[in-house]
Amino acid sequence: MPASVPGDAVVTVENLQTTFHTRIGPVRAVDGVSYSIGKGETLGIVGESGCGKSVTAFSLMRLIEPPGEITGGAAFLGGENILDVPEERMRELRGSRMAIIFQEPMTAFNPVLTIGYQMDEQITRHLRVSRQESRERAIEMLSLVGIPAPSERYASYPHQLSGGMRQRAMIAMALSCDPEFLIAD
Ligand SMILES: Nc1ncnc2c1ncn2[C@@H]1O[C@H](COP(=O)(O)OP(=O)(O)OP(=O)(O)O)[C@@H](O)[C@H]1O
Ligand SMILES: [Mg+2]
Repeated sequence: MPASVPGDAVVTVENLQTTFHTRIGPVRAVDGVSYSIGKGETLGIVGESGCGKSVTAFSLMRLIEPPGEITGGAAFLGGENILDVPEERMRELRGSRMAIIFQEPMTAFNPVLTIGYQMDEQITRHLRVSRQESRERAIEMLSLVGIPAPSERYASYPHQLSGGMRQRAMIAMALSCDPEFLIAD
């Protein structure tokens, strides 16, 4: 059923369907998810383990890989159907207008690059700022999420942070370009 679409909705998801094509047949992990979120609104999605929350999140970020496939539905961010735009456009949207805080922080970071390098890569890709401004913004974000000694953490590799700190660093990275739509898995 299509979600009712208020005029000021930031995100509207309509009948999202994601299927995994497995050897024992298709697994319909997400089957008809619809919702709409307005500016400043938060939507909480609850459900038992394995019910499809992460697959829904990955689908909206277009991070589903084979044998998984988005098999139906639409998702509008502004006027664009993000399930339908070219991958190139998706790369512009990801990390800037929409961002995800992954359930597994190790999924978010490349283990061989420092936290700061990865945050700078994202910030300078999407915002018109110098390296120096990017560094300042990254350290400010790390500080805002409550990471002690943020300049040191900026220069750390992911494995040098505790699990909780890695989660915070991931939140800092997701927030660094001020996304309109933030998914917290
Ligand atoms: N690569 C895959 N191949 C087949 N099935 C998959 C694959 N990835 C996910 N699934 C299935 O999709 C379903 C939804 O998984 P998902 O990770 O979205 O659950 P979840 O609601 O996020 O659970 P949790 O609360 O434990 O994080 C599960 O039944 C899972 O087995
Ligand atoms: Mg999950």
